[in-house]
Amino acid sequence: MTRTYHIATYGCQMNEHDTERIAGLLEADGMAPAGELESADVVVLNTCCIRENADNKLYAKLGDLKVLKTHNPDMQIAVGGCLAQKDRDEIRERAGHVDVVFGTHNVHRAAQLLDDARQYGPQVEVLEAAARDDAEAFPSALPARREVDYSAWVTIQVGCDNNCAFCIVPAVRGPELSRPFDDLVAEAQRLADDGVSEITLLGQNVNSYGRDLTLAARKAGEDTRVRPLFGDLLRAVGAVDGIERVRYTSPHPKDLRPETIEAMAETPSVCEHLHLPVQSGSDQVLAAMHRGYTGERYLERVNLAKATIDDLAITTDIIVGFPGETDADHRATMELVAEVGYDAAYIFIYSPRPGTEAASLANTVPHEVAVERLEELRRVVQRSSAHNHQERIGRTERVLVEGLSKRDPSQQTGRTGQYKLIHFPVTEAGPLRPGTYADVQVVDAARQYLVGELVEVVSRPKTRVRIPVVSV
Ligand code: 5AD
Ligand code: SF4
Repeated sequence: MTRTYHIATYGCQMNEHDTERIAGLLEADGMAPAGELESADVVVLNTCCIRENADNKLYAKLGDLKVLKTHNPDMQIAVGGCLAQKDRDEIRERAGHVDVVFGTHNVHRAAQLLDDARQYGPQVEVLEAAARDDAEAFPSALPARREVDYSAWVTIQVGCDNNCAFCIVPAVRGPELSRPFDDLVAEAQRLADDGVSEITLLGQNVNSYGRDLTLAARKAGEDTRVRPLFGDLLRAVGAVDGIERVRYTSPHPKDLRPETIEAMAETPSVCEHLHLPVQSGSDQVLAAMHRGYTGERYLERVNLAKATIDDLAITTDIIVGFPGETDADHRATMELVAEVGYDAAYIFIYSPRPGTEAASLANTVPHEVAVERLEELRRVVQRSSAHNHQERIGRTERVLVEGLSKRDPSQQTGRTGQYKLIHFPVTEAGPLRPGTYADVQVVDAARQYLVGELVEVVSRPKTRVRIPVVSV
């Protein structure tokens, strides 16, 4: 009988992308997706450790799985992702029923480790970041089972060379390693040939793309005068025939070069959306975080981007309650946020990550104060995002259709170039296939989404796919 699997994914797009690779490997090994977790023969937890509570959540989930496993002793449980990388031994110590622990550089071994565990007992394989090589570093080089046919992630770089005081990523994912330029363009071409029209380039710090490649080339005595920059990559991927949309995440404000902004402005397929994590608007807090820019410098870059890229949407990440953050620091963040006029922001309460510099800082901010600051900031962002949404009314937007709305199947859903969600009624001709590009006129705006009317279909997807229900 075909064995089935279920993968639960926590955290960022990198992890979602790793999940696609794990699914691809398990399917190449003869498995099929399980309808639900309870009936799966193999359960993989792809974990994240960037913010609080990830450990508690993992062990609670593993507790639930232990009960399931007593009813189905053949069930295999695997833990991968950042927590597995960080807490390799602790996981098996605390949850002896886990069959496989694999690190973030061992994703390509997931299927083999599950097979080995059936034969020889529990397997723990966690490669140190420093010991990895390119094959392990780039999940994009593995087969994937993509969730959607028309859109794909491409990892351009793994790891991070920065040392933001709050962040566990460099410790878990290791130093920056870039994937060679030509491989990336070839991958974009392969995906386009496969029917993909939207590509999202992924990296922890995409603007420093290629720095390590240049250093390695220089060491090898090669001519490195013409080194490819991230902007060149945007242009090259954007020029691939069949690629209609290029997105990327995330750039670091200190490394956002004018060349990247120009490439965004001059490459029609690169979407008019910049996710630029600010973290704080206070120079003191930014310095304590080691972010490498001031509020003013950040605003300069944002203003240059706004002035250069037509119709640009800007989103961000903010941390409230970093140790030592005063009311004055918070006000500085409020002012910066109001000035930028973000389209959306992910606001997080600071959570100490053991092993990071900030975890040992004094002057912690009481939780209630952090919650209050978060709410205040949220209100400011809501005002600008509502304002920006209102401004879209009357405009015609190019929309990439994703499927039917979950809440109301008489509506279909898609994303504009600015990455705004838009709902518009299904016409008599029936629902448009996911991956269709359509022009949609915006007729109304809510805080979280736009409402539109179909003007015309621009292009149909190359591949024939079912029409999924997507969440709103
Ligand atoms: N506490 C709170 N938020 C954090 N982030 C990263 N580390 C922490 C932490 N220790 C947030 C940052 C980052 C986003 C991916 O997660 O805002 O940009
Ligand atoms: Fe973490 Fe800073 Fe690197 Fe982003 S740039 S992954 S926040 S250390």
